[in-house]
Amino acid sequence: MLPGKKGWAAIKVIVFLLSLLPFLLLTNDAFNDQLGANPVEALHFGFGDWALRFLCIGLALSPSKTITGQNWPMRFRRMMGLYAFFYASLHLLVFIVLDLSLSWEAFKDEVPKSPYILMGLLTYSLLLSLAVTSTKRMQKRLGRSWIKLHKLVYVAGITALVHYFWLIKSDYTEPLIYAGVIAGLLAVRIVVYFRRAAKLFSL
Ligand code: HEM
Repeated sequence: MLPGKKGWAAIKVIVFLLSLLPFLLLTNDAFNDQLGANPVEALHFGFGDWALRFLCIGLALSPSKTITGQNWPMRFRRMMGLYAFFYASLHLLVFIVLDLSLSWEAFKDEVPKSPYILMGLLTYSLLLSLAVTSTKRMQKRLGRSWIKLHKLVYVAGITALVHYFWLIKSDYTEPLIYAGVIAGLLAVRIVVYFRRAAKLFSL
């Protein structure tokens, strides 16, 4: 049996706190000097990894609905998307404040010659546009265009992968795992799309 209104509210609070845990653990390690030999890199990579993980979780919710026939995974879609944006913002903040020491000169020097950084910035702008339009009010205001706009989350999944592949120099295991997950999730969406189209044509 599914929980009632109060039950869902409690579950949402638990999921919210669990999603905040990586941030608390990483910052706690940073303040206690537990991030190893290169703490800035560990913090930067840690936030980037969690941004990608939350993006994957967000992408998995709609296929979960399709596979299980249950609507409840969709209740967490906005929260997971906003967490992807939150960790991506921290990832960017560490890059600008700790890696580049807030230097505009260093930014101008580094960014144009690094395609993977440009791809990171593109992914971030996609996540930003999804985050600012994620409210119920924006959903109402944009109507059908909102659904189209929020399909950009799939593009963000792909550009985040390209960002990851382009920055890796030798061991591709981790990005390949993420690529497999995202390809599987996109495949479910494509199958659903073609099934719907086939149903329409058979009418
Ligand atoms: C906001 C603009 C972004 C910038 C400027 C940026 C920049 C960077 C840089 C400089 C690195 C380290 C490269 C190296 O030293 O080898 C990195 C790694 C990474 N970034 Fe980004 N990034 C951005 C956005 C994103 C987004 C939106 C995601 C995911 C949704 C992401 C996921 C990752 C991952 C997974 C890594 C590798 C972490 C690891 O190796 O464990 N980045 N990024």
